[in-house]
Amino acid sequence: MPSPARPGGVWGGRHGPPDGPGVGLGLVGCGHFGAAILDAARELPGLEPVAVADRDPGRAAALAATHRLDAVTPERLLADDRVEVVAVATPPAGHARLVLDALAAGRHVFCEKPLATRLEDATAVLRATTRPGAPRLTVDYVLRRNPLYALLDKLQRELLGPPRRFAFENLASDEHLGPDHWFWDRDVSGGILVEHGVHFFDACAWLLGSQPELVQAVEASGPGGRVDTVVATARHPGGATASFAHTFARPARAELQWTTLDWGSARATLAGWIPVELQLDAWAGGQALGLLQRLAADSAATLAIGGYRPSGAERLRVELLELARQPGGDHHLRLWATLGGVAAKARVHRESVRAGLADLLTAIADGGQPLVSPADGWHSLAEIIRAFCADALSSAVNLNVDLDVMLAVLAQALLAALRARLPGYAAVTPDTLQRRFLETPGTIINHGDTITVRLERRAYTPVLRKASLPAQTTVPWWDNRTLRYEFA
Ligand SMILES: NC(=O)c1ccc[n+]([C@@H]2O[C@H](COP(=O)([O-])OP(=O)(O)OC[C@H]3O[C@@H](n4cnc5c(N)ncnc54)[C@H](O)[C@@H]3O)[C@@H](O)[C@H]2O)c1
Repeated sequence: MPSPARPGGVWGGRHGPPDGPGVGLGLVGCGHFGAAILDAARELPGLEPVAVADRDPGRAAALAATHRLDAVTPERLLADDRVEVVAVATPPAGHARLVLDALAAGRHVFCEKPLATRLEDATAVLRATTRPGAPRLTVDYVLRRNPLYALLDKLQRELLGPPRRFAFENLASDEHLGPDHWFWDRDVSGGILVEHGVHFFDACAWLLGSQPELVQAVEASGPGGRVDTVVATARHPGGATASFAHTFARPARAELQWTTLDWGSARATLAGWIPVELQLDAWAGGQALGLLQRLAADSAATLAIGGYRPSGAERLRVELLELARQPGGDHHLRLWATLGGVAAKARVHRESVRAGLADLLTAIADGGQPLVSPADGWHSLAEIIRAFCADALSSAVNLNVDLDVMLAVLAQALLAALRARLPGYAAVTPDTLQRRFLETPGTIINHGDTITVRLERRAYTPVLRKASLPAQTTVPWWDNRTLRYEFA
């Protein structure tokens, strides 16, 4: 289950900012988003950035100079007594190792999403955070700290209940993602759903108050053969459904992202992947009108998130579009909210990161769990991996995971066997095995007692030749026929 919502107020309705000198922050990963985290951390009461590290010393030095911090190696950063919180902002495949090292060194962690790219690594992190006295860890799911999501959460608790449908549509730009960007390398990013989709799996589970019971996914490639589109669908207990569509294949000026939610007698649209505007239409009685009017009258309190500084451009408006046709019937009501429109996106993003840091500080101060707990980070990843069938099959396969448990188990066994036997492939992810080896075309020749699989020669054939694969295998459940393979 996602963590329950926490009451608002600048410090989350619990203690104020920690007394005394700020908690020391060390950042690992001085790229685009590492810089954004330091911007968000600036002037946050109770937090004091002290050092940055990067595997590229030049990057660390440049960011350190901008913020007047120390530039060190990741190892020195973890050994620095001033560093109590480590922010991890490297590409995703490196998160789990750095997070485990930071936790082992007794440091609290602000981990960029995703928590890991492989479920086994996320599980190791989860285990490390559940030890008695373990440091605190949160994952930077910015939607959890977006004022419009917080407004929806409030409306759900007071009026609407959980939605029946959640649908996210992400028509995103690939202009800033050059062909060599790590985003396209699934071994590094985890793929589109893991790198970006986790935000929405997490937000959806939070609003619905449940984890999905069934998840499926398909992916598609653009003309260059690069996977740039993924669509996942999920069913939650009780029959609510969700869909998550991402395509990264358009110019920035043609980007469009929106989320629709449906509660039966109310529907809402959030504009932007970092939502900046909300329109909610509801068919409800006078009490609901009263609630919406109260929320709109005090928009500052309604949109307040701990650690998030409003810009002054936030507005809420309620309209009575159509009066009830009969006494006691439903009016058509509209609630419209803005954080300042598209122009406010970068600011809203930064303030949401800031609110996440503030929430972690609060959890450290009072010993509670952050709003986004380690279990939330684990669940969102687990659901995506389930969508691709238990970390074991190519994501191009569309499977009903509930019905294909046996297939998943077989695939896990195959994955383990290939990882053990292919030289240099001990830690490889399933999709790489799929692309390099399992998709190898060949011919099956049936000689009666012996079945020969003749594989066509491909770039990775030398790896197969060096692997300790059995030359021939007797298959007991196939009338003891012999299965052998050879290379064309
Ligand atoms: N929460 C959000 O809204 C949000 C938005 C954008 C990016 N992100 C996340 O931020 C993370 C970083 O993305 P980015 O765009 O800044 O990437 P980037 O490529 O710009 O920067 C990554 C940096 O990490 C360094 N690095 C790589 N491996 C390292 C290691 N083992 N130790 C130390 N340094 C290492 C690289 O040299 C580079 O400077 C990703 O996980 C991404 O998903 C989150």
